[in-house]
Amino acid sequence: MNPHLFTPIRLGGITLPNRIAVSPMCQYSADDGCMSDWHLVHLGSLACSGAGLLMVEATGVTREGRISHGCTGLYSDHNEAAMKRVVDACRRITPSPIGVQLAHAGRKGSVQPPFRGGKPLGPQESPWQTVAPSAIAFDAGWHAPRELSTLELRSLADSFAQAAARALAIGFDLVELHSSHGYLLHEFLSPLSNQRKDLYGGSPENRMRFPLEVARALREAWPRERALGARISASDWAEGGCGPADAIAYARELHEIGFDFVCVSSGGLVPHARIKVEPGYQVPFAAQVKRAVPIAVRAVGMIADADQAEEIVASGKADMIAMARAFLDDPRWVWHAAEHFGVKLEYPPQYARSHPSVWPGSGLARPRTPA
Ligand SMILES: Cc1cc2nc3c(=O)[nH]c(=O)nc-3n(C[C@H](O)[C@H](O)[C@H](O)COP(=O)(O)O)c2cc1C
Repeated sequence: MNPHLFTPIRLGGITLPNRIAVSPMCQYSADDGCMSDWHLVHLGSLACSGAGLLMVEATGVTREGRISHGCTGLYSDHNEAAMKRVVDACRRITPSPIGVQLAHAGRKGSVQPPFRGGKPLGPQESPWQTVAPSAIAFDAGWHAPRELSTLELRSLADSFAQAAARALAIGFDLVELHSSHGYLLHEFLSPLSNQRKDLYGGSPENRMRFPLEVARALREAWPRERALGARISASDWAEGGCGPADAIAYARELHEIGFDFVCVSSGGLVPHARIKVEPGYQVPFAAQVKRAVPIAVRAVGMIADADQAEEIVASGKADMIAMARAFLDDPRWVWHAAEHFGVKLEYPPQYARSHPSVWPGSGLARPRTPA
């Protein structure tokens, strides 16, 4: 068998050796935006996973654009130096491309990490004024965001471009624009969070205006020889919110601007979202975008089984897949999937003795089916 999962894919000017990506995952372990030893260990471990792409977590383009005090940023020289230390180390471990997700948390910022409750920061916890398209809080008890002025929007688009310049200096192969999960750009896209009366609110075109200004700023700042993409949202899972047609319209514009791929996610915009979470629940959205727009599409969400992942790519529903929790559970997922499909992978020489060809006991480790 020659699994599609293990074939290379070209994105912009780079090639991923296979179609399995480590999804971006916040670690809430940074100090004023600076990566720590935790990131070195976490990303270092995933760098020798064999994944075709290693994504670095949502990284704030401004200090106030972070979700929590522990989120990574690319708004200072210190941030850049700390991230470069980690990325340089990963580079020495993996030949696979490494990408970073650039983000702004908008009204969902100034909160505790999930493992400390995920609540809005209290008065003794150095909270900050959050910003959003409209002054509508995420939920009762959350910080009331301040509506951004058009002047501030211009400056924020510049911050995305400046963070991309730092990502370039660090040596990333790929930049991904975070425009889902209810963070700032998604807040602009959805009528549930964007009730502006100016050019940035109202019609779908107006709601897309700021995210597309940011996308153009990134396209200018980021070389075509590397890869540029976005995480988009295909459903707010709430009445009156965005759906797949909005995701398709946005993906089409991103493609026009020169983006190389989109990763299709959903949810996170409103607390009352009713999401039907089941294996591969967002894959049909990815397939819809793929059918409509000639851009490479990544599927994500409750993908954990090797046959399931292979089917998504082989059937053409998506060009590649990303996994988050499956990689935390099993950083050697790719090795086991390769073994499952009879694909020969180069292991790091230090770990070569765990290869099934020399250690029959490795049959114990098999990809698992999601619950
Ligand atoms: C610990 C953790 C951190 C996450 N951080 C991010 C992030 O920084 N950016 C993002 O777009 N999604 C983030 N996500 C969402 C994942 O990237 C992924 O889309 C989601 O978990 C669904 O995939 P899964 O079922 O493979 O976990 C995070 C998920 C987890 C579990």
